Amino acid sequence: RTRIFSGVKPTGHLTLGNYLGALRGWADEDQHRADALFCVVDLHALTVEHDPARVRRLSRQAATLLLAVGLDPRLCTVFVQSHVDEHTRLAYLMECTASDGEMRRMIQYKEKTERERARGGSVRLSLLTYPALMAADILAYGTGEVPVGEDQAQHVELTRDLAVRFNQRYGQTFVVPKATVPKVAARVMDLQEPTSKMGKSHARTSGIVYLLDEPDVVRKKVMRAVTDTGSDVVYDRAERPGVANLLDVLAACGAGEPAELAGEYDSYGALKKDTAEAVVELLRPVRERHAELVKDPEYVDSVLRDGAERARAIARPRVDAAYRAVGLMPAV
Ligand code: TYM
Repeated sequence: RTRIFSGVKPTGHLTLGNYLGALRGWADEDQHRADALFCVVDLHALTVEHDPARVRRLSRQAATLLLAVGLDPRLCTVFVQSHVDEHTRLAYLMECTASDGEMRRMIQYKEKTERERARGGSVRLSLLTYPALMAADILAYGTGEVPVGEDQAQHVELTRDLAVRFNQRYGQTFVVPKATVPKVAARVMDLQEPTSKMGKSHARTSGIVYLLDEPDVVRKKVMRAVTDTGSDVVYDRAERPGVANLLDVLAACGAGEPAELAGEYDSYGALKKDTAEAVVELLRPVRERHAELVKDPEYVDSVLRDGAERARAIARPRVDAAYRAVGLMPAV
């Protein structure tokens, strides 16, 4: 069976982008067709300025949401990255496999450092080495497929390069993984700024639909989405990014193909109204299950405890093998 690994970073409340680009596919398809592991990658949340209490809270919320979207611990493994030491053990070997140049070429690193330096802030070294930890996350499990949104594809490409390089230098150790990206809504855009990705840590929240937003909040955000000049509804991501984004979201809610949907509308208002209702209905069961799960933290704990144990048992032998392969002396 194919091994699947993917993760979500607890740097903010999870968004509609996270759901459509990743979580929904994990729950509806991936966990049923493969031996899958899904992880709250909390160590990655420490690469930018953070508040310890908030990261702790968001990690629990993300884990609870993974169950709320339908991940079933009888079918897949759900766990928290920092509970399994193999991730950081292997990350160091990945840092010894990668070059600093290839880390600096990562788009997310460039974007985030530019933003940070513009504010006069400093950049954590871990932000640069982040892809080495992400490669370790993936390679420790012998992962074949990594279901992610489009923004993570470059990191998975780098992971492939590192796996191939490691295998060539030290002998066959890692499976070379590939990214899988959903056909629609692989890159959901911010509703207020449709040329940038809907990201959970943006400062302005009016363009971001969070999974736990109340229906009326979702409606308001979608109805106030920035649309384009002109009034005819056409699907054109480059020229009409605002409208195209709404069509993508509506299509991803199950209403058909974005380009065909465009033909069914003659006003932005009607498109927004239908999109708002579709999103409200899409998120309703998630919010309801989350509300139930919050009442039972012991259940969530027990899932995470079992998950970490299963994950550790899968990762340990391969990481041990990698330690031996690079020439580290076995413990005596
Ligand atoms: P993160 O936490 O930013 O996002 C989690 C998943 O959601 C996808 N995503 C989106 N998809 C479509 N439209 C959007 N606007 C949108 N925003 C986010 C992301 O592509 C991702 O699949 N580095 C990763 C976490 C990670 C990881 C891993 C993933 C760490 N180790 C190993 C896979 C395998 C991240 O920051 O995702």
